Amino acid sequence: MKGYKILIVEDDQKMNQGLLHIISKEGYFVQSVDSGEKALEKIRDTQFDLIISDLKLPGIDGRQLLSATKKYDPNILFVIITAYGTVDTAVSAMKEGAEDYILKPFDLEELRLVIKKIMEKRELFLSNIRLQRQLEKKYTFDNIIGTSEAMMMVFKTINRVKDSKTTVLIRGETGTGKELVARALHFNSDKALKPYLPVNCAALNENLLSSELFGHVKGAFTGAVSDKQGLFEAANGGTVFLDEIGDIGTGLQQTFLRVLESGEIQPVGSFERKKVFVRIIAATNKNLEAMIEQGSFREDLYYRLNVVIIDLPPLRERKGDIGILAHHFLKQYSAQNNKSITRISKEVLRLLENYAWPGNVRELENIIERATLFEVSQEVTPDSLPPALTMPPLISDMKSFSKDINSLEQLSKKHIIKVLETTHQNKTQASKLLGIDRSTLWRIMNRLEMNSNNR
Ligand SMILES: Nc1ncnc2c1ncn2[C@@H]1O[C@H](COP(=O)(O)OP(=O)(O)OP(=O)(O)O)[C@@H](O)[C@H]1O
Ligand SMILES: [Mg+2]
Repeated sequence: MKGYKILIVEDDQKMNQGLLHIISKEGYFVQSVDSGEKALEKIRDTQFDLIISDLKLPGIDGRQLLSATKKYDPNILFVIITAYGTVDTAVSAMKEGAEDYILKPFDLEELRLVIKKIMEKRELFLSNIRLQRQLEKKYTFDNIIGTSEAMMMVFKTINRVKDSKTTVLIRGETGTGKELVARALHFNSDKALKPYLPVNCAALNENLLSSELFGHVKGAFTGAVSDKQGLFEAANGGTVFLDEIGDIGTGLQQTFLRVLESGEIQPVGSFERKKVFVRIIAATNKNLEAMIEQGSFREDLYYRLNVVIIDLPPLRERKGDIGILAHHFLKQYSAQNNKSITRISKEVLRLLENYAWPGNVRELENIIERATLFEVSQEVTPDSLPPALTMPPLISDMKSFSKDINSLEQLSKKHIIKVLETTHQNKTQASKLLGIDRSTLWRIMNRLEMNSNNR
């Protein structure tokens, strides 16, 4: 609470000095003046957080000062001090933007409490602003990493459509950054200060989801004890992000279609429709076209959603991004875990580039985070990678082997040689990777007449 600046405006000299003394003792920076005119001069030189002003003042009175202050800077908080007879005026001052009023005569404890409460609100307000700034920073493009042609296309599309009202459909496998793109679209748009409300359509059943999105009226169903506003209304002017849109049932698909066509929502159990102005961004990892073929997704809804499509390619199709993403995450997690790992070994980069990344960027992020915890040197080495990466690809994936495979035995032999190469001929590690005992490995190697060197 320390460091906040308070201005006292009080024409009664004794009261003025008394307040100055008491409030200073609380650790605030306090100044006092004896008229509204002087107060207006003061607020031009000093950024006050709070003004505590008497209502009755000789020239400009407390209410006029309140209105002038709020016009000058609506973030300056205001408290009116008033006598019993003028409570009505104090109440209307609150309607005009004062945070609170104090009745004369007041005791010290009361004054302390009022100031404390207001300053806590101030603290919250300031930390919200800080958080908002962080969020904005987090979701600017700086945080979407990628220089591949496909990602450049994504950035270009985000820039082109961010400020429009058009519905955007983001498609991509799990972990490709769909939510990241949705946030970038919102937080870089002219709606950035309005709400961004994400909803995971797969997480709720149809009825719950309807009430969550469109609200309900009291008595709409058992447990609906009062009217409830839905996300669409709460997001008015901003963005609703419908995540996993491919997972909604046909009933809701029809409702969405109506909302998209009319811009109106209908709370559950209500006959009234309400106009809402929200930007809709939808995302899915499903193949909606295939679902249309199978009859599980409405074609008309699909055409409403896909006005603009952003396709996020799987990581294995933009190998060029793997290295920069890995370095980006390394910097982040190394700092977060108080490590000073700054490099990634060539061998690790090769392993990362050859991996299939079923979990895409999320998986890469997790693997680098894990590596920063496991790595003991200042460079990420294969030792700090999980087995999935260091183990050679499954036999079925080993296309290069298909040419000269005559028998299962030969195939096993090749596979074991490959695994031993990865473990630098360490059989204990190799048997772990192969999921067999060391003695079993030894037996197989004997049978296949593989050279044995006992490590
Ligand atoms: N291009 C990128 N640059 C930096 N970080 C990324 C990128 N793509 C994804 N990420 C990170 O990967 C993680 C997963 O991203 P996100 O949640 O956006 O994926 P998603 O496509 O929504 O996945 P899902 O379908 O599983 O919900 C997040 O931590 C995100 O910050
Ligand atoms: Mg997601």
